[in-house]
Amino acid sequence: MSQPYIEEEFRNKLDLDLWKRISKFALGHKRLLIPLTSSALLLSVVEALFPFATKVAIEIVEQGRPVIEVWKPGAIYFSLAVTLSILVLVFIRCAGGISHHISHDIKRDCFQRLQELEFAFYDAQPTGWLISRLTADCDRLSRILAWGFLDLVWGVFYVLAMSAVMLAINWKLALVVLSTIPPLIVISRFFQKRMLLASRQIRKHNARITASYNEGIAGVKTTKTLGREKQALSEFEGMSTDMYGASVRRAMLGAVYLPLVMTIGSIGSGLALWYGGHSVLSGYISLGTLVMFISFAGSFFFPINQIAMVLAEMQGAQAAGERVMGLLATYPKIKDSEEVKNRIATYAESSSMDPNIACDGYPHIINQIEFKNLSFSYNDKEAVLKNFNLTVTRGQTIALVGPSGGGKSTIVSLVSRFYEPTEGQLLFNDVDYRKRSLDWLQGQLGIVLQTPHLFNGSICENIRYGRLDATDEEIIEAAKIVNAHEFVMKLDDGYETKIGEGGALLSTGEKQLVSFARALIANPQIFIMDEATSSIDTETEKLIQEGMSKVFEGRISFVIAHRLSTIRSADQILVIQKGEIEEQGTHEELLANRGHYYELYVNQFRRERVRQELEAS
Ligand SMILES: Nc1ncnc2c1ncn2[C@@H]1O[C@H](COP(=O)(O)OP(=O)(O)OP(=O)(O)O)[C@@H](O)[C@H]1O
Ligand SMILES: [Mg+2]
Repeated sequence: MSQPYIEEEFRNKLDLDLWKRISKFALGHKRLLIPLTSSALLLSVVEALFPFATKVAIEIVEQGRPVIEVWKPGAIYFSLAVTLSILVLVFIRCAGGISHHISHDIKRDCFQRLQELEFAFYDAQPTGWLISRLTADCDRLSRILAWGFLDLVWGVFYVLAMSAVMLAINWKLALVVLSTIPPLIVISRFFQKRMLLASRQIRKHNARITASYNEGIAGVKTTKTLGREKQALSEFEGMSTDMYGASVRRAMLGAVYLPLVMTIGSIGSGLALWYGGHSVLSGYISLGTLVMFISFAGSFFFPINQIAMVLAEMQGAQAAGERVMGLLATYPKIKDSEEVKNRIATYAESSSMDPNIACDGYPHIINQIEFKNLSFSYNDKEAVLKNFNLTVTRGQTIALVGPSGGGKSTIVSLVSRFYEPTEGQLLFNDVDYRKRSLDWLQGQLGIVLQTPHLFNGSICENIRYGRLDATDEEIIEAAKIVNAHEFVMKLDDGYETKIGEGGALLSTGEKQLVSFARALIANPQIFIMDEATSSIDTETEKLIQEGMSKVFEGRISFVIAHRLSTIRSADQILVIQKGEIEEQGTHEELLANRGHYYELYVNQFRRERVRQELEAS
């Protein structure tokens, strides 16, 4: 992401309302939050008491009392030190715990919401970006809520405790010392914000340099063949120069900031010495009190620096907070209506165990799906489907063909209720599917896509993902039906073969066969194949085709295919053009029609013949 974007994050004022909402995640962990806050409070008091012990010790010497009496402040000092260590132990334990819990809670809530949200949400957000941003955002927020909160409580109370002790002992001298706080606050805020910004820019440049280094080496062949070495080097140098600039800026800020705040601390001590010295000479205060004030004057820098740092981090993390809270405030639009929820609850209470009735009280078996005067648009502007009518009965296979962008995938997305009709209805057994349980409906789908997504694991695990309680025998049976068994048995570990990230160790065709078996094992009533055969070789296509006829038996199937050979035996073939049915019928009927389908088929057939002849020659 570009630099101006980072700067943008810092430009906004601290949004307290946002942080109040985010802090709800911490409030759920009172068992840790209470000891954390208490230890931070006590810590600030204990630290403020150290100079007090010094004052008592000096006063004993000053008053010429027996040296043996110094043991009292010594003992106080020692007890304070022990208490301090225990408090540090407590707060590290509590802050670590809270940070972990908050991170887990935020991630869990986001994950749950992402699972609930419908496809339309993902259309607007690239998945990769969403994952990387959310993980980083959640970690950042949990760190601030735990460690930042600790620093903030400690810092504020340390300043208050020191001020209270000083004001109680000598308010005039206290006011002189406290006069250094406002400039300390202004300067710390100014520098901390900029130093954090510079540090982030360094990290960004560093990441870019590493990426470019990787790319440069991985793509060295391309660079060489295109004679681009000089350009690659100059790009690399440009990035290094940017990084150098940011590093120098960060170093300069640090180099100015530290001496500046130390000078202010020294001025505070100087003022205390000047004003307090007079008071000592006039006998208003003891030497011990003066030493204590000087020590306090030099201590304000630490908590104020810490507070400024946390505030800067909070300011910089606001965009992350808005993203996370924004996601959590986004509710799925496609969900069970109250009426459906009530019906599901009533049916669950009736404890009827009829396998022919679904959880929502309607029949489980889908005998018919009907698109009734259905229109649909993705963005409420241009209709993708216009007044679409179609009736499909159980056991039928519907093939959808036609030019790219015609609306084929949209039709099956609507059947799957990933989207809902804008106008008209989709009826399952004459009941609008919005009156049915969404979970039940989506549980009846078996979907195989062009680029099936497999998970890192064994083939067996991937097929079982379709139905978690499937036995090994059932898995093998499913693999046999879709003709995957043969290739699986040729692998070293058979069904236990690990297939790598996203199934990377399998070919596209093999992945399709596995995902076909995975879809089948769930015993879905509706089967959907969207371009599932378009990027595979003829051999695998034949395997899939053979599998298809067995799999589709007794179900409602939608097959989208560019390769018309795949769909010849479909009960109805629909040529979809610009969201409307242009032609409809069986393969033979459509060929006899000599229409669009005929054109497509003949062209493809010719191409296929030419290819085969070329291969043969
Ligand atoms: N998620 C989406 N958001 C907005 N518009 C979309 C979305 N998906 C598809 N469209 C648009 O809807 C129209 C129909 O798309 P669809 O994916 O249904 O076509 P298709 O027939 O499946 O095409 P292809 O053969 O290329 O897969 C196209 O104009 C497309 O740009
Ligand atoms: Mg499509």
